[in-house]
Amino acid sequence: MKLWEKGIDPEPAIIEFTAGKDRETDLVLTKWDIIGSMAHAIMLADVGLISDDEKNGLLKSLHALLKLDEAGSLVIEKDMEDIHSQIEKELSAVLGATGKKIHTGRSRNDQVLVDIRLRTREEIDNLSLLIQRLFNSFQSLSEKHKEVLLPGYTHMQPAMVSSFGLWFGAYAESLADDIVILAGSRAINNQNPLGTAAGYGTTLPINRQLTSDLLEFDNILFNSAYASLSRGKIEMSVASALASVAQTLARFSMDICLYMSAEFRFIDFPDELVTGSSIMPQKRNPDVFELIRGRANIIQTLPGQIASVVSNLPSGYNRDLQLLKNLIFNAFDDLSECIKIMILMLDNIKIKTNITANPLYNTIFSTEEVNRLVRQGIPFRDAYKVVAEMVKNSSFSKTTLADYVHEGSVGNLCNKEIADLFAKRMESFRNMSAAELADKMMKYATK
Ligand code: ARG
Repeated sequence: MKLWEKGIDPEPAIIEFTAGKDRETDLVLTKWDIIGSMAHAIMLADVGLISDDEKNGLLKSLHALLKLDEAGSLVIEKDMEDIHSQIEKELSAVLGATGKKIHTGRSRNDQVLVDIRLRTREEIDNLSLLIQRLFNSFQSLSEKHKEVLLPGYTHMQPAMVSSFGLWFGAYAESLADDIVILAGSRAINNQNPLGTAAGYGTTLPINRQLTSDLLEFDNILFNSAYASLSRGKIEMSVASALASVAQTLARFSMDICLYMSAEFRFIDFPDELVTGSSIMPQKRNPDVFELIRGRANIIQTLPGQIASVVSNLPSGYNRDLQLLKNLIFNAFDDLSECIKIMILMLDNIKIKTNITANPLYNTIFSTEEVNRLVRQGIPFRDAYKVVAEMVKNSSFSKTTLADYVHEGSVGNLCNKEIADLFAKRMESFRNMSAAELADKMMKYATK
């Protein structure tokens, strides 16, 4: 059955091609399609487009479908195009004419927009919690190892004194920035498109504020034509946030691969967490981080992929937009898997102490020696030349670590300040399960 059937049998190959992967992909939208329909039914009754009895019937049936979905028993049948068609068919099968009223004042275009936005909100909120766990791992490693020095590099050459505290702490602060972008994408996403119908509104007297409140959107997405344009824009903003997190993961993974190599050996992992070679008996490989790096790098191409689908579409609904669902929801899965495994690895990371005792890193203390002379009153450029000469004729020997006191330096990591920033930014997220929202909707079922 097609929702748009008008007496002509559609060619099956066309249906197959246009449905594409939706029969699987849309399953991640099922519960949200049901929740969106519950809000819509409550609103239709409120404005008098359906009776209270009809609303009660719809809510009861939708709730039963939600339970079916929770049990994993709601499938999109072979001759259904998508989840929206399936749910409407189920409602009509149970409720007859009442079921057929659910689509009053609504199009699949605003319906899918609602579903995507509700699902995306859930994904964003879940992701924020995972990022918080990773942030905490980085911060506690930073605190734990704040005294352990590392060579810091520029141009991949030993440059200045760093520490495990500074290194781990850097990735924590990077995540603190990533969640600003994630919070921004949440704000763009959390607006109600329901009621914009096919993109041009409806002549029926619907109440958009009511569905907005019921679904806990921040506000109405006002302009009906913009609602269609916003599909692709939400995905783009979310993709930017995911790409930003992915960049943090990829760069940390690159550091790990480098620092675990025989030439560095700054860090290591227990044998159970590294992989071997089928031919070389000695190998202990950081495959986990290579795969995080690769997968995170693919996620960083997501904004480009979305732009390539959306950039030159005309306004109004275009079927190309359907392709975005897989891209964005797969990216959430990929990123979450990468974060979880990274947390496991960090829980078990081993770090080497005394790295900077190696004469190889002698010169990383030379800038400090320059500063020591500066504090005796020697102009910086002259002091620089004195120390450069010592380095050149190999007479420079390491000074002891001088005080680093300013904010964000080896001696003053400001982890607490970064944690405060992070906590403040986390306030933008709020976990709201479908079950919670469904319970709220069911209170509108009257006797
Ligand atoms: N599967 C479609 C999508 O994701 C649902 C909307 C269909 N709307 C339409 N006008 N054909 O975009």
